[in-house]
Amino acid sequence: MTQVQDVPVTVGPLGGRVTRPEGAEAWVPKEPFISPEYAKLEAERLWPRVWQVACREQEVANVGDYVEYTIVDQSVFVVRTEQGTLKAFLNSCLHRGTQLKHGCGNAKEIRCRYHAWRWNLDGSIKEVTDAFDFDPACITPESLQLPECQVDTWGGFVFVNMDPDAETLRDFLGPIADSPEGRYLETMRFERSRSTTVAANWKTALGAFTDGYHFSGTHPQLLYYVDDTTYIYETFEKQSRMVIVGQGKPSPKLGDLDLENKDVLLAWVADLHELKLFNDEQAAALAATIHTLPPEVTPLQFMSSLTRSASEDAGIDTTGIGDDHLIGENVSDWFIFPNSCTPMTALSVFYIRFRPDGLDHESCIIDVWNLRTYPPGTAPDTWPREVYPDWREHDGWGRIFLQDLQNVPNVQKGMHTRSRDRLICGRQEIAMWNTIRVVEQYVGRK
Ligand code: FES
Ligand SMILES: [Fe+2]
Repeated sequence: MTQVQDVPVTVGPLGGRVTRPEGAEAWVPKEPFISPEYAKLEAERLWPRVWQVACREQEVANVGDYVEYTIVDQSVFVVRTEQGTLKAFLNSCLHRGTQLKHGCGNAKEIRCRYHAWRWNLDGSIKEVTDAFDFDPACITPESLQLPECQVDTWGGFVFVNMDPDAETLRDFLGPIADSPEGRYLETMRFERSRSTTVAANWKTALGAFTDGYHFSGTHPQLLYYVDDTTYIYETFEKQSRMVIVGQGKPSPKLGDLDLENKDVLLAWVADLHELKLFNDEQAAALAATIHTLPPEVTPLQFMSSLTRSASEDAGIDTTGIGDDHLIGENVSDWFIFPNSCTPMTALSVFYIRFRPDGLDHESCIIDVWNLRTYPPGTAPDTWPREVYPDWREHDGWGRIFLQDLQNVPNVQKGMHTRSRDRLICGRQEIAMWNTIRVVEQYVGRK
């Protein structure tokens, strides 16, 4: 007879680690979050060596499309060449160093605006202005080939890596590479992009999004329709994930409220309405419908069939997508090391990327990309690219995101207290814990 043993689960569904940090490992140093010297180490040893999301393939779909990506004091631009391939160049003219591209756009060639040297889209030199005035040895075609970074794609994202000897993107991504989330993300296109800055280290800001442990403190309204106690947290060699399990179920932390299915649904719809995923009219109609539902219809059943029928009506094929994935249940929110996350359903993602704001280790650029699956042929070619120099200048973040942003500068300030030099991480925070562990390896502290 097989005996069921009451032992803690130590290996996650994808073979990663799910256990809590123990002993000395349970303490996380504060230094990576507040030290300018640590940020310098990251600038030297982390950012030049990791794969990082530069843009979406959609932004460089046509020959000549380019997007600049900046990280700390470095700038790179991704371009679609005439051969149809992607290249990423260090953004610096080989004459006297001028940056060659800013922002995004389309160009027939790469032309420096200072003295008009010109390169082909594949990085080969096309023309040196007044070439006869230069020592020919300085301007050979080989020496004037624009230096490149590695570039590769996954899930519709374009990744770059400044290290020519870095492992492949696939190896770097580990379990993310072949995940169903990658297939979902691949077909998504921009709806909106927003960038802002917040007064915190990039890891402090990222840490506000890496667990459901903060729901009861920060987002109490979520507990009415999310069971925050059943999430899965799993870490790997570099990557980490949080799996949402418990969507459409109230949290046991609410105590004995005895909520009916319709109460849960009304709370869920209210948050989606507030997020502007439903307009006033739709929200009112939904609330009316919910009041008439038979009590045995579960929130998950109702929301998934609503999503499926609305998607199919719009012309989006949902065949093969399970009810759970349609509403984000059992879907991984990947923490793509080092600096982004993918809270998502099978049809949309609220992708967030966190970058140091230049050399200021206590300011972080947050890029929020709303991507979604469109009916065939209807994805817009252009979309709002909103930039808010300070997060407080925008009032449309939505309640949940705003609640998180409000925490971040407070955490950063609080970590400066002189009385303690370390933080504590429990099981539900292993994604953050793992990120710091791997950053520590890159900077040579572990
Ligand atoms: S610096 Fe670019 S052409 Fe002179
Ligand atoms: Fe949050």
